[in-house]
Amino acid sequence: MAVCAWAGGSGGSGDVDCHDLSQMIFRTPFRAWRPRGMLYRRILRVNHLFTRLRRGLHSNSYAPARAREEPMLVLNCKNYAEATGSRLARLYRAAEASSRRHGARIAIAPPPHLVSAARSRRVATLAQHADDRGPGSTTGHVVPELLRAAGVAGSIINHSEHRLRPAEIRAVIGRLRSLGMSSIACARTAPEAARIAALGPDYVAIEPPSLIGSGTAISRARPGLIRDAARAVSQSRSRLLCGAGIVSGEDVARAGELGAEGILVASGVVKARSPARALDELASRMPRRRAVRGE
Ligand code: G3P
Repeated sequence: MAVCAWAGGSGGSGDVDCHDLSQMIFRTPFRAWRPRGMLYRRILRVNHLFTRLRRGLHSNSYAPARAREEPMLVLNCKNYAEATGSRLARLYRAAEASSRRHGARIAIAPPPHLVSAARSRRVATLAQHADDRGPGSTTGHVVPELLRAAGVAGSIINHSEHRLRPAEIRAVIGRLRSLGMSSIACARTAPEAARIAALGPDYVAIEPPSLIGSGTAISRARPGLIRDAARAVSQSRSRLLCGAGIVSGEDVARAGELGAEGILVASGVVKARSPARALDELASRMPRRRAVRGE
């Protein structure tokens, strides 16, 4: 299955499967028939248009401004064993269903070794980390160019479990942007959120390390931190996400009220008894698009 990055969200074109359509209409019948003349050339031209449309939809350059402005739910799978193999595929299916049901934009950051394993036309795939290194002799580094070639739409960077130096954050943000990929740069405090926002990532994600994996949501335990971080990024091009300890729809709704334009979640979904149900509850309370800044 191919990737249509960032095509999710309410009213998105993620359900249009041009690949299958052109396969269905053109490949099977006309290979056998192979007519000649003007009609044949017209058919080839239409087929060519379908192919170009398909390439456009399946490339990471398909990142319309409207999609970037929609609130986003990021499921960070970390290296949880519960997010590997067929369980990762189930998470994608659950995310697709919840995205469709609630009109929520959902992205998944699979465990690093599985970043190109699961694909969805509706749910974007993100990397959990990226380095400022290019293709070639860069052993062990996560190379944005190769992520892009694998259909990955963007990357989380500077997660508190994988910190980068400020110069590296700046360089990776620039590298991702030059490739048409999204950047979600994490910060632990409001002042750090302000410093990172000045580097121009698409999103700043505020996550207090002490609440990560705790089951006590940032939006309950540290509402002031979300407010301060929202203020800190408000003058920048970045949008604010928040994460740490989010487990319920109520946690998500509060985060939205406090100024976050989406959330990051890991254990609350991946380690839930029913990940699909947990994800659906969170997606059902995502802030609506009208709540987005400037509207
Ligand atoms: O990146 C999201 C993550 O750090 C939050 O983790 O387990 O508290 O949802 P968790």
